[in-house]
Amino acid sequence: MPVKYPKQPRSDYECVKVETDREGITWVTFNRPEKRNAMNPTLHAEMAQIMDEHETHPDTKVIVLTGAGNSWSAGMDLKEYFRDTDGDAQAQFRSYTDNRRWSWDALVRGRKPVIAMVNGYCFGGAFIPLCNCDFAIASDDAVFGLSEINWGIVPGGVVSKVLVDTLRIRDAMYYATTGRPFKGRKAAEMGLVNFSVPAKKLRAETVALARELMSKSPMVLAYTKQAIRQVRTMDMEQAYDYLIAKITALEAKDPERTRERGMREFLDNKSFKPGLAAVARPGGKAAKPAAKSSAKPRSPHRSPWPKPPRGASRRRSSGRRRSAAGRRAPALLPHFFRTPRWQPCSRGIAATLLGSTPLSAPRSRGPAPRARGSCPPATWAAKARTRRRAAPCRRPCVRAPRR
Ligand code: ACO
Repeated sequence: MPVKYPKQPRSDYECVKVETDREGITWVTFNRPEKRNAMNPTLHAEMAQIMDEHETHPDTKVIVLTGAGNSWSAGMDLKEYFRDTDGDAQAQFRSYTDNRRWSWDALVRGRKPVIAMVNGYCFGGAFIPLCNCDFAIASDDAVFGLSEINWGIVPGGVVSKVLVDTLRIRDAMYYATTGRPFKGRKAAEMGLVNFSVPAKKLRAETVALARELMSKSPMVLAYTKQAIRQVRTMDMEQAYDYLIAKITALEAKDPERTRERGMREFLDNKSFKPGLAAVARPGGKAAKPAAKSSAKPRSPHRSPWPKPPRGASRRRSSGRRRSAAGRRAPALLPHFFRTPRWQPCSRGIAATLLGSTPLSAPRSRGPAPRARGSCPPATWAAKARTRRRAAPCRRPCVRAPRR
């Protein structure tokens, strides 16, 4: 007998409110404001079901996780999740498993994009769904904290793991060991969230991001999301092989034939520019370039090369391409090589899925990929030296050697 899944997702949950709007955004709201949306076993069981249902429901295009009242979530419910289940192995197993099912399995493996809209307190265990969401937008005054140290446990249930995967080790160590709370702006600066905005703009910015994501082919978006997550733990050879296979699979699976249409519309019909917007989806309106968001990512990718001192003139070599944000672009490399696997998850995924990769060279670990004519300053001198007796350099960015 085949399993019969309900056609319509449930909406009568006790601890979570779920609504899907007409555009396809499913708003999932932790709904225990009187307990600051602390996550109890019931909430975990409900969330596990909700994520399953909306992963496959065609009306849901993007999922937004937020909290009722002044909190996103105050972490695990210390009473119901911990104290009440202490010594009850069965209850513990069930609630720990439900937690795992939605806040890491479903969020990490799901195909639909999930945005954490952090409207207030976010503590401890809430960092698991926060870091595992594909994107996070916080209000400037949201309060974050790794409070485990303050009441006597290690940030467990994979909090420590998602933390070091998302933040720099210095920040992870500092906040986990001091338990100091910090605000939305700081979270953005550290790359814990994509950006923060004043509270009154939080919803509008979240909707703008969701709309932008919905303008992309869902299959291409899902594959891109999976690719970005998977390559983080691969070496270069594995990543190359995996991505080739992924691209080939996508070509066969994409019902919208986005690749074909994209090339036709750009090269033949000249109806859009892939550098600026997505190709219109079949039956949809022509895609507009992404609306200019008032929110600036506060933690842009930094160039690995030292900045010139203030006031010094910035020489720009004619051969170097720059992104709109004015950063160096290793332009000749395929897109996926430009996504450094070590860059914090939320920024990497956001930039890539939105097609707005800041195109900075990676921050560390070996030489940065270079386009022709974009030699980093460190190698200019070496190159110039070897060419001194050779033919004159044709690279516009290499200074003529001193004679
Ligand atoms: N677990 C259980 N109950 C909680 C939690 C929680 N994590 N957070 C808040 N509550 C309850 C409070 O006990 C209180 O219940 P009561 O009204 O029955 O007394 C109610 O929510 C309101 O909490 P207040 O403390 O009165 O709210 P306030 O706005 O003053 O403070 C704050 C909010 C800062 C979030 C505070 O409640 C707090 O520190 N909560 C604990 C945060 C935390 O450390 N979470 C655990 C992280 S570790 C982990 O998740 C594994």
